[in-house]
Amino acid sequence: MINCILAGIQFLLLLAAVGMILYMGYVMQSFKNPVPYVPTDKKTIKKMIAVAKIKQGDKVIDLGSGIGKIVFAVAKHHTGEVIGIEKSRLLFSISRLWALLKKGKGKIKFVRGDFTKYPLGNINIVMCFLTPEGILSIEEKLTKELLKGAMILSYMFPIENIRGFKETKIPLKEKKKTNYLFVYNKLY
Ligand SMILES: C[S@@+](CC[C@H](N)C(=O)[O-])C[C@H]1O[C@@H](n2cnc3c(N)ncnc32)[C@H](O)[C@@H]1O
Repeated sequence: MINCILAGIQFLLLLAAVGMILYMGYVMQSFKNPVPYVPTDKKTIKKMIAVAKIKQGDKVIDLGSGIGKIVFAVAKHHTGEVIGIEKSRLLFSISRLWALLKKGKGKIKFVRGDFTKYPLGNINIVMCFLTPEGILSIEEKLTKELLKGAMILSYMFPIENIRGFKETKIPLKEKKKTNYLFVYNKLY
């Protein structure tokens, strides 16, 4: 009996180790991509949620949701729909697995796909942590599809060529430097 339990524990540890190696391997190789995987830190996510002032009925999306950190943090308090779209199969699968374990108030939806193709017309709040290249691929779509009153929160990088939005730049004091949260409110 004890041998069986020990074998079970060994198997689970092995599984966790293999999972960790795969995850770390993916994170490292993702730096070859135009938008690598770097999770947003807890403090920044908290600030993004505070600034967003999400209302009942708001539909929130994280563009490039990774393993779902922003999605889970928003859904913890917000009762509406929270969507995460991620193109990496591995990161998407991890977020789906976490979704089985985490409890929140919101209706979580993870989509595996390319955010440049996802319809944004009924989204009220867009959150993202991308690179200038990633932002370039989506700014025209954000300009065209988001409706009046929609808000975008972009961590670290501005959306240079967006039109019809009011920009607010919020400094975020981090360990060694100051980063920014760029907030855009659609005016018309
Ligand atoms: C810097 S990470 C941010 C992850 C997550 N939003 C967070 O804050 O923890 C950017 C993510 O965007 C994803 N990504 C990049 N281009 C994408 C695209 N066109 N469609 C969907 N996801 C994309 C990457 O795979 C990566 O996981």
